[in-house]
Amino acid sequence: MNFELKPLGLVGVASEKVDVLVVLVPQSFKAAKDDLSALVAQTIKSSDFEPKAGKILHLYRPSQCNATKLILVGVGEGTAKEVRAAVALALAGAKTPSLKKLLVSFAAPALEDAVRAVVLAIADATYAYTFTKSKPEPRTLVKATVATSNATEVQVTFDRAVAIVAGCEVAKEWANRPANHATPTHLGEAAQELAKTAKFSCEVLGPKEVAKLGMGSFMAVAQGSEQPLRFIVLRYDGAAKTKAPTVLVGKGITFDCGGISIKPAGEMDEMKFDMSGAASVLGVFRTLALLKPAINVVGLIASCENMVSGKAVKPGDVVTSMSGQTIEILNTDAEGRLVLCDALTYAERFKPAAVVDIATLTGACMVALGGVRSGLFASDEALGQALAKAGDDAQDLCWRMPLDDDYADGLKTNFADVANIGGRAGGAVTAAKFLQRFAQKFPWAHLDIAGTAWKSGASKGATGRPVGLLVEYLLMQAAAK
Ligand code: BES
Ligand code: MN
Ligand code: ZN
Repeated sequence: MNFELKPLGLVGVASEKVDVLVVLVPQSFKAAKDDLSALVAQTIKSSDFEPKAGKILHLYRPSQCNATKLILVGVGEGTAKEVRAAVALALAGAKTPSLKKLLVSFAAPALEDAVRAVVLAIADATYAYTFTKSKPEPRTLVKATVATSNATEVQVTFDRAVAIVAGCEVAKEWANRPANHATPTHLGEAAQELAKTAKFSCEVLGPKEVAKLGMGSFMAVAQGSEQPLRFIVLRYDGAAKTKAPTVLVGKGITFDCGGISIKPAGEMDEMKFDMSGAASVLGVFRTLALLKPAINVVGLIASCENMVSGKAVKPGDVVTSMSGQTIEILNTDAEGRLVLCDALTYAERFKPAAVVDIATLTGACMVALGGVRSGLFASDEALGQALAKAGDDAQDLCWRMPLDDDYADGLKTNFADVANIGGRAGGAVTAAKFLQRFAQKFPWAHLDIAGTAWKSGASKGATGRPVGLLVEYLLMQAAAK
């Protein structure tokens, strides 16, 4: 999608020739003297329209503007949340095959958060998965224009939002692709493809190299599958070499059937999304390539399938991780932490300023926080606070979860240094406590995106989260020096 920002108030917007014009009307709306403003004022006065959140009025070829279809939508106070919902509502009803040119206009000077909200909402409403459809509906909408009278004030925010949604699109696309079209090998190729077009490097390791590194825990998860594992190392160098990088670590399980501790059949298809953490790392790199901030970032992706076979790892097996710690695999379905722990140990070599892992790690986190906020765990106070703020700013929310040592009690075992599961209670936290053992040498945070990375039901599909949060955090680091 092409986005463009134009410095236009309602007067200017009226003369634009577009298929759909969406006007965002706040409760504080004051009509100027132009015809379009007068029309908006009239619809309010006659009670045919209210500038409240959730209210909408469709008009066809009104003489007051050049648009084929005019949609007035209320944004209430004009908060980011209201604006995002309003644009989503307007665009849900605007899916006509003839929609080629879309213009979304603020009826009052736009706030930065609201501009960001408009871009996020347009991107969400217009993304369409087509990769495995034999006759995809043609995408006619090629350009979305956002208009506000104070465009120059919000240009930087707009450009950032456009780059972020490009990253979200990469994340959505890879997460959505079925597991037979998104194998570890495919992910490695996608990373290399991304790196080709931009200023970052990419190295893809296979089973031999990973064995040499001693990643016994990662290899144990991969051993039941016919698909060879991939360990992907991306490097974006936007600052001096002496500047310590931020390392992002993505869980890249391209399909999680649970292994020998097999999952029930219902909704098992959704476990194709179990590489959403990895997809978000790819998405962040897409955005970095566009924005070119002055920071160094390393992306690590541990990717494999978690499958059942005669070669699969068994409950009770003890494996040796790259850190040297031995792990008793009591449940083969707790595989995310097993691939991440070796990636965390690998991260040590970069002497990172911070390491953030992103994983669809536990059903328990989904139960705790639902689809609204991702779970945030942080061993470092400043890092935890920065990520929480980044989530707020990016409209990609998370919620701080605890890391008390008592939560690790259940991970004790008589047969290894640590077990890969605790009890059922506090499952999202015990998973984080397991990871923390492998993240002692740097400030570390963990985002459990099990509830937020995709939607189930009629709108089943990837959300592109938490690309926005991560990019916002990285840009904060770039601004900090
Ligand atoms: N990928 C799943 C977590 C998951 C489950 C994400 C449902 C989204 C929806 C993960 O690998 C897993 O299976 N976790 C287990 C851990 C348990 C065995 C301790 C879980 O949450 O049930
Ligand atoms: Mn699992
Ligand atoms: Zn999993």
